[in-house]
Amino acid sequence: MSEKGKPHPGPLPQGEKGDCPHPDPVSQGEKGDGSADPSRRDFLARAAGWTAAGTLAFAAVGVARMPKPGVLPGKSAELKVGPPGNFPVSADPVRVAGRNLFILHGAEGFCAISAICTHLGCIVAPTPQGFACPCHGSLFAADGKVTRGPAGSPLAWFEMSRAPDGTLVIHTNRTVPAGTRYQFA
Ligand code: FES
Repeated sequence: MSEKGKPHPGPLPQGEKGDCPHPDPVSQGEKGDGSADPSRRDFLARAAGWTAAGTLAFAAVGVARMPKPGVLPGKSAELKVGPPGNFPVSADPVRVAGRNLFILHGAEGFCAISAICTHLGCIVAPTPQGFACPCHGSLFAADGKVTRGPAGSPLAWFEMSRAPDGTLVIHTNRTVPAGTRYQFA
């Protein structure tokens, strides 16, 4: 006899499972009244919480690893750095302790150059050719001129003077043209 003519077997007796391949919605975490199973709801809430916490943690790490910009002019506009004898003639710039400044004492005299990269404010380091920025690779010549970007302007030079007690003073709020040297007998 063909399937077409076969009578429908009717509803299954209670407790008996049929061959139907479709899942029973009640056994899939939904209650018969349409609301979600509380344990499933809790799991989803916890998963959302962990996802949000993870995202915030990654964002915090990213912010912490961002380059730290230096600040001009710093704590005080007039900075006393000690007697000239503290800076013997040398080809190497000397970093002023605790400040973003270098002092150079060459045969032509003294000069004070900013250590703050003009790109985004990272602190440059002396190199045999001048200065290098560790953040995005800018290079500066020994006189502060940009030799490789992304920095677009040279390192600042600052006015220097000598206090009545003989101490060298750097005026971090007054820039001077690159190449300005000071002789302090
Ligand atoms: S901060 Fe120096 S190159 Fe970007």
